[in-house]
Amino acid sequence: MRLDKYICESTTLTRSQAKKVISQGRVKSDDKIVRSSAYKTSEGEEIRFDGDIISVRGLRYIMLNKPQDFICSNVDEQLPSLFNLIEADKKEQLFIAGRLDADTTGLALITDDGQWSHKVTSPRNKCKKRYRVGLDAVITDEAIAQLKEGVQLNAEPQPCLPAEVEIISDTEVVLTISEGKYHQVKRMFAAVGNLVIELHREQIGDIELDASLAPGEWRYLTAAEVKSIG
Ligand code: URA
Repeated sequence: MRLDKYICESTTLTRSQAKKVISQGRVKSDDKIVRSSAYKTSEGEEIRFDGDIISVRGLRYIMLNKPQDFICSNVDEQLPSLFNLIEADKKEQLFIAGRLDADTTGLALITDDGQWSHKVTSPRNKCKKRYRVGLDAVITDEAIAQLKEGVQLNAEPQPCLPAEVEIISDTEVVLTISEGKYHQVKRMFAAVGNLVIELHREQIGDIELDASLAPGEWRYLTAAEVKSIG
């Protein structure tokens, strides 16, 4: 990796600031000052900036328990971005793997790994998402049958893939789907004549929302959790 990129990825400096500190002689490779930004670093080499050893940050994978009234956007709009809840360097490089509506709570996955995010969201991958759904009206047997079969959403060419439905009470269900269409859960219940009044995502693939995270809290995923998305 080029030295300026290395500095950029291992500190909070921008590319142009990295070039500047390199030309100022503040960066050393194995105790020798390097003044060329184009210098190619290699595996095992010790890079120091102002005397401190620095190393390139790996890709980041985060789970957040999203509270209501935060939006899945990198910038604040009428409501604040959920990135206000996370403390991390270079937050602008992070994005949300599968957005939730402002009024939806629960598991949000955040990463800077585009390929991993694609595995979570790509319809081809059929990564399951489990939601706890509070409903306005009693769920009927007919609605359950339709959801299990695959409901036809308004303005979609194909019906949804069959969903898994677990009945918790007359007005609460756990729904598992393997797609991620826009407002999918709300539209699925609208299509069977009901209305979602509460929506909470509990699980994506094999990654379950950590019960120790209060709304607004987050943690890095374990290596096993990262690997489980395949
Ligand atoms: N489906 C919805 O309708 N909203 C969400 O936030 C997530 C899934």
